[in-house]
Amino acid sequence: MNCEYFGKCGSCTIHDIGYEGQLDLKIQREKERFSNFTDIDFDIVRGDEQNFRNRAEFKIWKNFDEDDNATLSYAMTSVDKNVLEINSCQIVSVDIQKLMPKLLEEIQKDKILSFKLFAIEFLNSTTNDMLVTLIYHRKLEEDWNTLALELSDKFNIKIIGRSRKQKVILENDYINEKLSINNSTYNFRYIEGGFTQPNTKVNIGMIEWVLNNIKDSSKDLCELYCGGGNFTIPLSSKFRKVLATEISKTSIKSAKVNCELNNNTKIEFIRMSAEEFVEALEEKRVFSRLKDINLKDYDFDSIFVDPPRAGLDDTTRALVKDFDQIIYVSCNPETLHRDLEELTKTHTIENFALFDQFSYTHHIESGLILKKI
Ligand SMILES: C[S@@+](CC[C@H](N)C(=O)[O-])C[C@H]1O[C@@H](n2cnc3c(N)ncnc32)[C@H](O)[C@@H]1O
Repeated sequence: MNCEYFGKCGSCTIHDIGYEGQLDLKIQREKERFSNFTDIDFDIVRGDEQNFRNRAEFKIWKNFDEDDNATLSYAMTSVDKNVLEINSCQIVSVDIQKLMPKLLEEIQKDKILSFKLFAIEFLNSTTNDMLVTLIYHRKLEEDWNTLALELSDKFNIKIIGRSRKQKVILENDYINEKLSINNSTYNFRYIEGGFTQPNTKVNIGMIEWVLNNIKDSSKDLCELYCGGGNFTIPLSSKFRKVLATEISKTSIKSAKVNCELNNNTKIEFIRMSAEEFVEALEEKRVFSRLKDINLKDYDFDSIFVDPPRAGLDDTTRALVKDFDQIIYVSCNPETLHRDLEELTKTHTIENFALFDQFSYTHHIESGLILKKI
């Protein structure tokens, strides 16, 4: 990939050694980082070299002429932390890439749509569903709704308007996605504001890697940080039942819808932080959210965790150690390394994978399967 903003844009910071070069760099760095725990071969799930991001956010920058007419452009933070105006982006999906200039040109024509617009977010599916969130520094009135609806019809996209304490949903606030995972089709609804994986191809690769590296179990799976059920729903095929928890209301709402969309009756989703769930399991606190669930009905042998960048907190790390099988997906190798200091006292690493979700950046996602010693 050759982007005209390489070296200037603060997003893609590894730009001068090509896709293979940046991947090799990250593989060597992580092999070295984790060499005190394991010398097994890492499985590598590669990304596409360009057009791999199905969600993206851009600032909107305005240049004014002497008559105070504004010209709008997309903008990123530059490597030296200034504003970098851009005309296009090579890493976003083809649909987002095509829509970007046409959408901005149309918004630019109208003072109501463009007034105090400061960011645009895109969320796109492989089924060509597109949700665009226009974010403003002002209250949105009825006249905005009418014009935004016209924009939505013109480009066949869903539009949400956001400003402080305001969210205007014109049609609906989600997109539909269909993923083929190990030749089975799964339907997902991604709701605006809920967590979704940014790289569809690598996301499918991550789910397949987990599915292909764990055995069928006659027991149950416990999952923390489950988001909208991205891993939960495909993984449930390997277990008798699944209990999955997550802190975000929006994500739990989409997880429940996703369960219905896939006619899945094996999973119970509960809105609960990982820390609260530990308290519930250890019977330290009673939660009304769990009134219809008897935790004693579950016979867990495995736990799946995919925490945010902070990794596991102390109590969750201690809980995880009670399970025979730990499946750990991590977006931060530093906190993963810290957590493994503790987990490898009771478990051995059986499989280790690197998932290149964030090409041309120093970030890399990891996946591990650990078994009790
Ligand atoms: C990296 S995402 C993974 C989501 C999901 N596994 C997926 O593939 O889409 C981490 C998730 O953890 C949730 N989260 C953050 N802090 C949490 C906490 N303390 N307890 C439970 N969930 C939390 C976030 O809302 C987010 O959905």
